[in-house]
Amino acid sequence: MIIPTRHLRRLIGLAALALLAACKPQPETPAPTKAAFVNIPPYAAQITLQDLMNQIVDPEADVIWNATGSIATKKGVVENYPRTDADWEAQRRAVLRLLEASNLLLIPDRKVADTPFESAGPGVYSSAEVQHQIDTRRAVFNSMALNLRGAAQELLKATDTRNVKALLELGDALDKACESCHKTFWYPDEKVPYPPLKPPSP
Ligand code: HEC
Repeated sequence: MIIPTRHLRRLIGLAALALLAACKPQPETPAPTKAAFVNIPPYAAQITLQDLMNQIVDPEADVIWNATGSIATKKGVVENYPRTDADWEAQRRAVLRLLEASNLLLIPDRKVADTPFESAGPGVYSSAEVQHQIDTRRAVFNSMALNLRGAAQELLKATDTRNVKALLELGDALDKACESCHKTFWYPDEKVPYPPLKPPSP
C-alpha cells in the first residue's frame, strides 16, 4: 500500500505527538476531580480547642452571664439585665457568636492545645488525655456541642423577645451545657479539696 506523502506526514506528526505525551512527566497524584472537591469538606480547624475556648466561647458566655443576674453591692442586691437597645444588641451579638461556635466545635481533627498541658490534679485529664477522649468518643463530644447549640438557640429566642425572666434561667442552662462537656472530656473525677476545718490563723 502506498500512503500518500501528505498522509504520511500527518501520521508521523501524530506519532510524534503521542510520543511527546508519553514522555511528558506525569504529576504524582492526578489533579482532583470535581467530585473530589464535592466530597472533601472545604472547612478545616484552624485553631486549637484551647484557643477556641479561651478566645471565642468563654468571652461570649461571659458577656451573657454578666448581662443578666443579681449582684450583691453595698446598697443591696441589684438586678442586672439588658435595659437599653445597645445592651440588647450586645447581648444578641454574644448569643449569635456562641450559637455559631457550636459549629466550630463540630469540625473534626481539632488539636486540643499547641503546648501540651499536664493534668491539673487528681481526676483531671492532661491535654493528651483530653485529645484521646475526644478522638475515641467523637459522637459524645458532638452531642455535647449540640447541647451548647440548643442552649444558645433558646437564648436567642429570649433575647429577640426581650424576655428577661427566661434569660435568667437560660444562663443556668448555658452553664450546664459547658459543664457537662467539661465533666466528660476534661475533669471527669475532679477531687475538690475540703476546706480547712479551722480557718487558718491570720
Ligand atoms: C463539646 C464540649 C465543650 C463544650 C460545650 C464547652 N467546652 Fe470548654 N472545654 C472543653 C474541653 C475538652 C476543654 C479542655 C481542653 C482545653 O483546655 O482546651 C475545655 C476547656 C475550657 C476552658 C479552659 C481553656 C484552657 O485554658 O485550657 C474554658 C475557659 C472553657 N472551656 C470555657 C467554656 C465555656 C464558658 C463553655 C460554655 C459556654 C464551654 N467551655 C463549653 C470542651 C467543651
